[in-house]
Amino acid sequence: MKVHIHDNKKIENDTLIIGVPEHLNQLETIEVVNENINEKLKTLKQNHIISTNIGTVSTTLFSLKEKYVKLVTVGLGNVKLTNHSDYLKVFGNLFQYLKQERITKASLLFDTFQAHELTREAIAEILGQQSIQSIYQFDNYKTNKSAPYHIDLDLSTEKTDDILRSVEQGQSIASAINLARDFSQMPPNILTPSYYGEMVQKHFEGTQVSVDIKDSETLQSEGFGLIHAVGKGSHNGPSVITITYNGGKAEDAPIALVGKGITYDSGGYSIKSKTGMQTMKYDMCGSANVIAMIEAARKLELKINIVGVIAAAENMVNEAAMKPDDVFTALSGESVEVLNTDAEGRLVLGDAVFYANQFQPKLILDFATLTGAAVAALGDDKAAVFNHNADTTLQHILEYARQMDEFVFELPMTSTEQSLIRNSDVADLVNHTNGQGKALFAATFINHFAGETPHMHFDIAGPATTNKASHKGPKGPTGYLIPTIVSWMRHLK
Ligand code: BES
Ligand code: MN
Ligand code: ZN
Repeated sequence: MKVHIHDNKKIENDTLIIGVPEHLNQLETIEVVNENINEKLKTLKQNHIISTNIGTVSTTLFSLKEKYVKLVTVGLGNVKLTNHSDYLKVFGNLFQYLKQERITKASLLFDTFQAHELTREAIAEILGQQSIQSIYQFDNYKTNKSAPYHIDLDLSTEKTDDILRSVEQGQSIASAINLARDFSQMPPNILTPSYYGEMVQKHFEGTQVSVDIKDSETLQSEGFGLIHAVGKGSHNGPSVITITYNGGKAEDAPIALVGKGITYDSGGYSIKSKTGMQTMKYDMCGSANVIAMIEAARKLELKINIVGVIAAAENMVNEAAMKPDDVFTALSGESVEVLNTDAEGRLVLGDAVFYANQFQPKLILDFATLTGAAVAALGDDKAAVFNHNADTTLQHILEYARQMDEFVFELPMTSTEQSLIRNSDVADLVNHTNGQGKALFAATFINHFAGETPHMHFDIAGPATTNKASHKGPKGPTGYLIPTIVSWMRHLK
């Protein structure tokens, strides 16, 4: 979307977009081309031609002086209560409507989009975000691609610089989300671990973000025994992709963002059922979202240091693949017994988290489509978070999640799980329990490798993808937690 901002009230386009509150008296007097249109809007509402329900888009022919325009209204509900989530719906529905109607030019009266709880800048940012996020589509592998959609939007408002900047910031966050979606949608025969690394390198080429890749041989020789064990069952060997963004002072400790990048999870010898295997290309969503968080930090020029670590591997079956009862030595030097090869995420993340800790981060966050158990506990639209030594940050992140319309709920790690992860007859640790509490077990296994460094683990097995289109976009990968983590990072001092 190209946005132009005018501070005049001259409507030069054939489509006019207005936000309409439930109580139309809350609408400031709207003057367009020297005509007060409030009374006309009231009549349209009384006649049920336009709706003021939150996010409802209505359209009608409208006469402005001697000219007719297509009027598009979006309901804002009671603007004393309208919040961030509501505005996602308002602008998501609006842009999806504009795209569906292939409207390529429109004038939007920005000042009609009010909310007592949100600043003008916050509203502008959501507008920018939804102008890109809500109309995402992925047709790279279709022969007949739908034509790219662009709209030239004239925003009429005052103090135009702040507003334009906020729109652009929203667009930066949304293009990061769509970048994560693009990676996640790629078919697993194409997005192998090594190609993933190449793509990430190519994406950040020429920016201040640097990308380092360790291939399978390097991983083996440097002692990444768990990542190597998972990846050696495939001809497409594993990679560790390290992404560094230094926007802060040289002496500031980085935050570490670690992502599960299983480009395909067949389950290995503990093989998945034919229906359980479908969609397992999405087992790298955690890592795609980490790439997006760093991309957003770069575009927003955040003054912090970040080290991203992506553990990429294909969990497959060949004669070299790991099998139940095997024992491997982790990067930490500890031995791990594999009782279930489908519990591969915690293995790769164990090594990745241990490696991330070498950068002496002040905090490690990891993101993973880790367990079906987290989905059984919370449903498929909520993330689970586990925290060790990071109580204050957890409270902040929970608050940002609430503001950003994302669901995150804390689950515990206790002495019960601490002893379960050590319950091996032959090795120091074991990757699987046959008992209950499988999400907690997996989290505790990963946390073990963070030592005493503050650590949070996010299990996004459910919400990483959705099978329902919404105002946030089509079905498929969601970029879950990118908005939450980016807004938390923006407020880090
Ligand atoms: N990638 C899966 C988890 C998953 C399941 C993600 C469904 C998205 C949707 C993970 O590697 C896995 O297979 N987990 C197993 C662990 C079990 C073997 C202990 C699970 O949750 O069933
Ligand atoms: Mn698995
Ligand atoms: Zn997996």
